[in-house]
Amino acid sequence: MYFYPMRIDIITTLPELMESPFSASILKRAIDKGLVEVHSHQLREYSDRKHKQVDDYQFGGGAGMVMTIEPISRCIEKLKSERDYDEIIYMTPDGKTFNQGIANQLSTYKNIIILCGHYKGVDQRVRDIYITKEISIGDYVLSGGELAASIVCDTVIRLLPGVLGDETSALTDSFQDDLLAPPIYTRPADWNGHKVPEILLSGHNQKIDEWRHDQALKRTEELRPDLLEGTENE
Ligand code: ADE
Repeated sequence: MYFYPMRIDIITTLPELMESPFSASILKRAIDKGLVEVHSHQLREYSDRKHKQVDDYQFGGGAGMVMTIEPISRCIEKLKSERDYDEIIYMTPDGKTFNQGIANQLSTYKNIIILCGHYKGVDQRVRDIYITKEISIGDYVLSGGELAASIVCDTVIRLLPGVLGDETSALTDSFQDDLLAPPIYTRPADWNGHKVPEILLSGHNQKIDEWRHDQALKRTEELRPDLLEGTENE
């Protein structure tokens, strides 16, 4: 079977920040195998102002600079002239909180753009005109959207077919069924008297599956009861 690679275009003033997450381990392998293409675009190259400025003072006054619409518009329009995009995402602390459900949905798309904000954020007209999805990675403020974008990319890329060696392993992750993962063990079966639960050594697969499900439920009730309330995810 042939898979078209997913394509992720990242618009940023700090493309160098977007290099190392894709230069090692699973993400690097996914790129090397041609399962995903990640392209970073230096927003400053789309500025026509001196010193390649991409921000300006707020109308109405107030502290903090705002990213201007012109370079962002030029960059997005250029990308859109080259291919169709399924989603144009803006990383922002006031977006919808990222979760596994959003990652699953994004992993089905062919082309996405991720815009990384800085300073106070972008001119509202960028959001109104271009952005189709706004994502936050949590209720805290980063110095820019790049680290958040790399988290989204990591979460999405590992879901793409062929990226993980064991095709089923992404499906058994924590959160895939709104449950945390059960406890896991490996050798030795007895470490200084701390023993692995007997059932896991029994070879009885159905019993093991039941035990794992019970443990997952118990752990979720203890640590993340909110997941069981069915209020999470889209
Ligand atoms: N940019 C700054 N803080 C962020 C957050 N929490 N999530 C996404 N983008 C951000």
